[in-house]
Formats: sequence, structure tokens, C-alpha cells
Amino acid sequence: MKYDFSTEIPRQGTSTIKYDKRELIFGNDKVIPMWVADMDIATPPFIIERLQKRLQHPILGYTLQDDEYNNSIAWWLQKRFGWQIETTWLSYCPGIVAGLNHAVQAYTNPGDKVLIQSPVYHPFYYAVKQNGRELLTNPLVLTNGKYQIDFEDFEAKLSQGVKLFILCSPHNPVGRVWTTDELNRMADLCLKHKVLIVADEIHADLVFEPNKHIPFATLSPEVANKTITFGSASKTFNIAGLATAWIAISNTQLLKRYNLQAQRNGTWHGNIFGFEATKAAYSPQGEEWLEQLLWYLAENTSLVRNFLEAELPKVKLVEPEGTYLLWLDFREYNLSNDELKKLLVEKAGIGLNEGEMFGEEGSGFQRMNIACPSQTVSLALQKIKDAFCDL
Ligand SMILES: Cc1ncc(COP(=O)(O)O)c(C=O)c1O
Repeated sequence: MKYDFSTEIPRQGTSTIKYDKRELIFGNDKVIPMWVADMDIATPPFIIERLQKRLQHPILGYTLQDDEYNNSIAWWLQKRFGWQIETTWLSYCPGIVAGLNHAVQAYTNPGDKVLIQSPVYHPFYYAVKQNGRELLTNPLVLTNGKYQIDFEDFEAKLSQGVKLFILCSPHNPVGRVWTTDELNRMADLCLKHKVLIVADEIHADLVFEPNKHIPFATLSPEVANKTITFGSASKTFNIAGLATAWIAISNTQLLKRYNLQAQRNGTWHGNIFGFEATKAAYSPQGEEWLEQLLWYLAENTSLVRNFLEAELPKVKLVEPEGTYLLWLDFREYNLSNDELKKLLVEKAGIGLNEGEMFGEEGSGFQRMNIACPSQTVSLALQKIKDAFCDL
């Protein structure tokens, strides 16, 4: 079946963050919203049908993580990444941000050191700091248009007594899909310094050829034993509003500690619609839809690349290997972050994520969400060009 990703779907007035918070965030409810990471692309019809079917039953009481749900996750991980899990390794959380907080609470004590790689998805900072842990960063280094890991700094930081490393794989916002070699080097250093790894793999499905997502826990049994992996169908299938994510932990002690923390926080029971949607998503139909989505996202990325090269050469695209979030480098304009934001919001009428929110290394950058109909991408690019043409 051929799916449609190009139809514009009005979302304003559906209590959606991306549209209905524009006035609050940008001071203007007309900006083209290319910020928060969900898609202006319809959730696949087979997921909607599954939810409609469930709604034919008139009771929406407490639900459980049943065999079909667990098996659908195991099937997907095996099929897409060759990762053979046991369904007993799985647990639930109402979104990965909640899970990251549980993990920090479960595996570290107040004052312990936690390492992240900046610039990175901003709730990583909150999960560390708001739980009273000490934040250490291993800044990624932009070399010839590509972000790389500074391994010397990584080890220097680990050796300061870090207890937990939170990995973003694939990486939001810089779009890297870490290679086996990079993952192995990080894993070896974590094992050497006895550091646990939380791998946030929410963007695992959104990877462009020839890059391949390698689940961190598949590197070796020793690495699996120290790894807590988070995943979800939410980004891939546009179901983030269902607040459902999974955790896979093969080490039974670590799993127990995670579950105890989830219990303390009162978040162990799930969402009927999140479970139903995930079962429909992690299926052969889901694969077929995903392949078409990836093609569409790659086309939108090409649109941006070609436009910038021809029309706005001072804006540099950091070539994404994965995710639908483009990391745009505006530093050649020598503008302050406020000036840059003002131009984009007030003159161009575009709502992006300011790079600085992902860490100080993001200063001068903006994150653009291109998971939308291609005509929206084209319109946004034209508006940016018109706003920046005199600079
Ligand atoms: C790396 C990363 N982790 C987690 C999330 C959010 O996860 P959830 O909605 O399941 O809390 C996002 C959303 O953009 C993300 O990019």
C-alpha cells in the first residue's frame, strides 16, 4: 500500500503542544511550527483502526502489559536490529523522559556524577540536575561538518568517578548514528571505569542508509549486563501523546531496581491506547509504512540541503544520519541568539528550537523538524531566505 505523507492536516485546536503553545513559546500563534519532535504526518491508519477497535469496548479500566505487546517489541527488535531479547527483560514507563528520571534515581545517589554528551536533548540535563546529581558533559566536537566524540575527554570524565552515562543513540539534535567502532570504544571505557549505561534509543528506527543503528546492549554480554535501554514506537509512528515507552534490561538486579523505582514513583501501570498502538506499530505493516516514511524524510532533507546550498549558503546543514531533526548552523551570520531568534520568529515567521536549549555548544544553531509535508518545508525555507537576504 502507498501511504500519503503530503496532505496538510490542521492541528491547531487539538490541544497539541506544537501548535497550541505557539503564542506562549514564540509570542505569535502564526509561526510555522517546526520545533517540538512530533510529526505533521498522520499516524498510520492501521494504528488508528486498532484504537478504534478497542474503543468499541465500553470499559477503559486498568490495563496490563500482555504477551502480545511484549512479543511485538521482541519481534521488532529482532527484525529491525537483529537483537534477540527475552520478554522478561521488558518493563514499562509513561514516556522515556519519565524513564530517564527513574533510572537516575534508581542507579545513583544524590551528589553522584552522571555524564552526558552535549549538545543533547534538554531533559537529559533535567534528569541529572533536578534529581540532585552532579552533571558532567563530554562535549561533541564538530569537525568538517560532522560531530565526533572526544574520547580522551570521555575517559577523563569517566575517571572522575562517574556512576552513570546517558547515551543518546541516534543522537538528538546532531543527527549522528553512532558506528560500531564508536559504540565499542564508549562501551570499553564504561566497563573499564565501572560505569552503567542508560541508552536512549528512541530514534533507533529513524536512520538513513547506509547508516545502521546498533543497539548498545548488543555489543557484548558484558556490555548488556551494564546497560539499560529505552525505546518507544512514539517518534517513529507519531504516537507520542499516548505516553508509552519500553525499557529492556537483561541484568535481573538492574531490572529489579528499575521496577522498584517505578513503583516508588507510582508509574508502573500502563496506557491501554499506548499498548494497543505499539502492537499495531511493531508489525509487518509498520515496517512497510516506516520504509516509506524514511524515503519521504530523506527527500525533505534533500530539499533543505539543496535549497541551502543554492540560496542560503551561509546556513550550514549538519548532515543527518538519523532522526527527522535537522541541526542548522547559522554561526556565519555572527548574530546573538536573541537576534537570530527574533529574525526567525518575527521576520521569517518560523518556530524552530533554539540550539542553546540543548547546551551552550548549541549557541548559533537551530533545530528544524522536517517531519511534515514537503510543501511546508519549501515554504519555511523561502521565508527564511526572505528574512536573511539582506544580511
Ligand atoms: C532523545 C529523546 N529521548 C526522549 C524523547 C521523549 O520521549 P518521551 O516522549 O517518550 O518522554 C525525545 C523526544 O524528542 C528524544 O528526542
